Amino acid sequence: MYTPAKERYETMEYNRCGESGLMLPKVSLGLWHNFGDTSDYENMKQLCFTAFDNGITQFDLANNYGPAYGSAERNFGKILKEELMPYRDELIITTKAGYDMWEGPYGNWGSRKYLLASLDQSLKRMGLEYVDIFYHHRMDPETPLEETMGALATAVQQGKALYVGLSNYDGKTLSQAAAILKDLKCPFVINQNRYSIFDRTVEENGLKRTTGILKKGLITFSPLAQGQLTDRYLNGIPEDSRIRKDGRFLKESALTPERLDQIRRLNDLAVQRGEKLADMALGWLLNHEEVTGVLIGASKPQQILDNVKAIHCAPFTEEELRLIDEISK
Ligand SMILES: NC(=O)c1ccc[n+]([C@@H]2O[C@H](COP(=O)([O-])OP(=O)(O)OC[C@H]3O[C@@H](n4cnc5c(N)ncnc54)[C@H](OP(=O)(O)O)[C@@H]3O)[C@@H](O)[C@H]2O)c1
Repeated sequence: MYTPAKERYETMEYNRCGESGLMLPKVSLGLWHNFGDTSDYENMKQLCFTAFDNGITQFDLANNYGPAYGSAERNFGKILKEELMPYRDELIITTKAGYDMWEGPYGNWGSRKYLLASLDQSLKRMGLEYVDIFYHHRMDPETPLEETMGALATAVQQGKALYVGLSNYDGKTLSQAAAILKDLKCPFVINQNRYSIFDRTVEENGLKRTTGILKKGLITFSPLAQGQLTDRYLNGIPEDSRIRKDGRFLKESALTPERLDQIRRLNDLAVQRGEKLADMALGWLLNHEEVTGVLIGASKPQQILDNVKAIHCAPFTEEELRLIDEISK
């Protein structure tokens, strides 16, 4: 059985998640890719071990991560059972429901029926009694917010989630949801949104500002724009890259000549700073006071080792921040 590194808490840094009691690592690992049934189980284990050995305590899942849907939770559950369960109290395990999961009218969006059934299924697949954070995965324009938030509160009351979170919400809906959750005395602590040098939506839709005002946590997903903000695509498209291996969410068409020029210019800036582009991109996010942590993906353990260096990224000068904005817009 796996024995974690003794020095696992020596280099990672932890931020308080909003005003809550929960401390989260500055870098967390997401299992959206590379944990489905089409991926190599031994590599999944090594990704988890490398993360935990380096102080990454948070592992982020969702009901439909795979492929096939549910398989990332099942594979992670196997790793937990075989290797990591003795460390359960050192782990933050999160899951979500909100996107299509099963057929029919009860396997998608934000109804109470869907959320609570989905959480039960997630717990079963992972072999857990509770998750640390249960998220509503996306806003549902049709279901009353009171119903969705009520379902999150019930998950906590049932002891199946310790905290709840919202993902892909905008500032206005976050404010409304937070007020309902406060009335329900539900421990809502975190937002999970896409945010990177290349994707500034949260700066434009009020999410980042509202998160700060409400003093909630913000964990940023796809902080490397799925690999674009790394040296992955500087010299063509490698055969083992996400674009070639999967191609559903990051397509070759994203790498326009303009985008490749942006990547090269950002890479030049990172080199001038004595860093890798990935570390500069993660460091740029961690430099925002609203950001609790970055949620990375990785296909190889070495990427995790490279990315945790971001927590020691050099401070940014005003001129560097201006240049990053100029290049990326
Ligand atoms: N809430 C939501 O709606 C939502 C949506 C999306 C994601 N998420 C969460 O966020 C997590 C991270 O998302 P993401 O995987 O898109 O994040 P990301 O960190 O932007 O991209 C990860 C990918 O970038 C490449 N990479 C990472 N580090 C690298 C390095 N140092 N050098 C070169 N390439 C590197 C790898 O791709 P290669 O395969 O090319 O090596 C890796 O799989 C997900 O696992 C999930 O937990 C949540």
